[in-house]
Amino acid sequence: MSASVIESKGYIASVEAPFIREMSEITHHMWSLGWDELNGGNVSCLLDEEEVARYINIREPQRTIKLTFPVQELAGKYFIVTGSGKYFRNVIKDPEANLGVLRVSGSGESVEVLWGLRSGAVPTSELPSHFMSHIERLKVDPSHRIVLHTHATNVIAMTFTHDLDELKFTKTLWEMCTECLVVFPDGVSVIPWMVPGSSEIGRATADKMKDYRVVIWPQHGIFVTGATMDATFGLVETIEKAAMVYNLIGGREIKQKITDRQLADLAAAFRVTPKAGILEV
Ligand code: 13P
Ligand code: ZN
Repeated sequence: MSASVIESKGYIASVEAPFIREMSEITHHMWSLGWDELNGGNVSCLLDEEEVARYINIREPQRTIKLTFPVQELAGKYFIVTGSGKYFRNVIKDPEANLGVLRVSGSGESVEVLWGLRSGAVPTSELPSHFMSHIERLKVDPSHRIVLHTHATNVIAMTFTHDLDELKFTKTLWEMCTECLVVFPDGVSVIPWMVPGSSEIGRATADKMKDYRVVIWPQHGIFVTGATMDATFGLVETIEKAAMVYNLIGGREIKQKITDRQLADLAAAFRVTPKAGILEV
């Protein structure tokens, strides 16, 4: 047994658990990209009961936290989440203080802390947006598992200079790098600027999640969902790269670009269906 494995009430609570290690690695990676300054960003991942029970005592919750918004649809489900006010830079050094494994209560009105969030820490303040997004994505994609929010630098910058119409925003991103249309043919959505951490921004975000995997929060960051950490993180990387190219062009004269016809040919070649109402072919 490795030194990092600790016995807890007869169960093995381990920072070697794959879901704890995955969260530690991805938060570290996001921090090193400069997207998650201070306590910026939050991640939640839906877990299987069986997998959690292998590493954590699920019979004796450490404490219960009341939710300000009911999530009946998630009753009994398990999540690993980042803590509120926690610095991504520190997660890898001390996962138990910065992450938490939660179970939604039977009524959907509270969460039980099963592991982590040491010393009275609480789940991310964006839990309404995370939970409401999980609910909507599970309705349209049974393989859905991850919600990831980050302050991706170039995406934020682009929301200052680009029209916030989501079809126009999507088209510009598609035009910036050839891979974009293939990676997110369903496009990106945009909500108006709103106060973070509120149930209102949660509802607005989740409403977009009915049709999109990506919601842009102007002058703040991005919410992205997916079935695996690789797919979810890869989607943010691709969007952030396209936004970086847009910012590098920075209004200078464009001498050639990918045409709508070429984008349509690309979609046909990769057998993806571009979101309707964007390409004019
Ligand atoms: P938390 O530290 O509560 O997760 O908040 C960070 C953030 O990015 C808010 O939008
Ligand atoms: Zn944020």
